[in-house]
Amino acid sequence: MQYQPAAERYQQMEYRRSGRSGLKLPAISLGLWHNFGDSTRTDNSRALLRHAFDCGITHFDLANNYGPPPGSAEENFGRILREDFHAWRDELIISTKAGYTMWDGPYGDWGSRKYLISSLDQSLKRMGLEYVDIFYHHRPDPETPLEETMMALDQVVRQGKALYAAISNYPAGQAAAAFKILRELGTPCLIHQPKYSLFERQPEEGLLDVLQRVGVGCIAFSPLAGGVLTDRYLHGIPEDSRAASGSRFLTAGQLTADKMHKVQQLNAIAQRRGQKLAQMALAWVLRQPAMTSVLIGASKTSQIDDAVQMLQQSRLSAEELQEIESLLR
Ligand SMILES: NC(=O)c1ccc[n+]([C@@H]2O[C@H](COP(=O)([O-])OP(=O)(O)OC[C@H]3O[C@@H](n4cnc5c(N)ncnc54)[C@H](OP(=O)(O)O)[C@@H]3O)[C@@H](O)[C@H]2O)c1
Repeated sequence: MQYQPAAERYQQMEYRRSGRSGLKLPAISLGLWHNFGDSTRTDNSRALLRHAFDCGITHFDLANNYGPPPGSAEENFGRILREDFHAWRDELIISTKAGYTMWDGPYGDWGSRKYLISSLDQSLKRMGLEYVDIFYHHRPDPETPLEETMMALDQVVRQGKALYAAISNYPAGQAAAAFKILRELGTPCLIHQPKYSLFERQPEEGLLDVLQRVGVGCIAFSPLAGGVLTDRYLHGIPEDSRAASGSRFLTAGQLTADKMHKVQQLNAIAQRRGQKLAQMALAWVLRQPAMTSVLIGASKTSQIDDAVQMLQQSRLSAEELQEIESLLR
C-alpha cells in the first residue's frame, strides 16, 4: 500500500540546532548500519523507516560501506526512498560517509580527495539521489594531509553534491584542526559523529568542550552500546539479537560478567525511574549541552517507540547522575 506519513509526525519529536548552524536535527536519529543490508528482510527495513518518519525522525544516517555487503544499505535505502519517500525528500536529512575500506586498491580507503569524491559519486548513484544533506569523513587518516581531506569536503559542498560537511571519529585535537580548515575554506563543519554512551566516555575528554566552544553540533553513535545498554541481554542472548547474529562488533564474549553486573544495576535505576534502561541510556547522552541528536539503531519498530517516548519522560536529576557515575567507576 502507498505510504502516507502520519499527519501528526512533527508533534512528538524535539528538534535541536546543530551547533551554530542553520540546521535542526531530531533529538533521535536512525542509523542504517545494521538491518538494512541484503541479508535483512526489506519489509522490516521499510517498516523501520516508515515508522521512524511517522515519529518525526527526519534524519537517516548511512555510510558507503553499510550492508552487508558494503553498499547494499544505500541501495536498499534508495529503493525504499523512491517507492515511499519520494514526495518527502525535502523533509529528510540523509547523510553518508567515506573513510573505511570500500573497494580494492589504494583509492578505496582512508581520506584522499580521490577516494572521497569518487565514493560520494558512487553513494549518490546507489541511493538515486542528486545530493546528500550531510557528507562525513568517516575516520581520521594518519597519512593524508588534513588540508586535502577537508578540501575534498569543501569541494563536494560547492558542487552541490552535499549540503553540509562533517567528520566522525576524530579525537579532539584533530577535530579542532579540521574545523579551523573548513571554516577558512568557507564551509564550516556542521556536526561531529563520535561514539558516546554510558560505556564509552572518550568524548568527555576534551571533544565535547571543543564542539561547544566552536559551535559544531554532535550526534552520538551507538548510544546504547549496540544494544548492551538495554534490557536485551538481561536474561541471556536472544536468538534475534545483534550479539547472536555473528556480528564482529558485538560478540557474546563482550558481555562479560562485570559488564552485565553494571547493566543490571543501571536497569534497576531505570526501573525505579519508571522507564526502560534504553530510555535512561539515551536521556543520559542527550543531557550533554553539546548534544544535537542520539543516533540509534533498531531492529524493531517498538525500539523506535521506546526512544521517542523517552522524550516525554523526566530528566535525570543531579542525584541520579551521581548514582550512575559511582556505579560505573
Ligand atoms: N561513525 C561511525 O564510525 C559509526 C559506527 C557505528 C555506528 N554508526 C552509526 O550509528 C548508528 C547506530 O549504531 P548502533 O546500531 O550501534 O546503535 P545503538 O543504538 O547503540 O544499538 C542499536 C541496537 O540496540 C538494540 N536496541 C535499540 N533500541 C532498543 C530498545 N529500546 N530495547 C532493546 N534493544 C534495543 C537493537 O539491537 P538488536 O538488533 O539486537 O535488536 C539495535 O539494533 C548506526 O546505524 C550508524 O548510523 C556510526
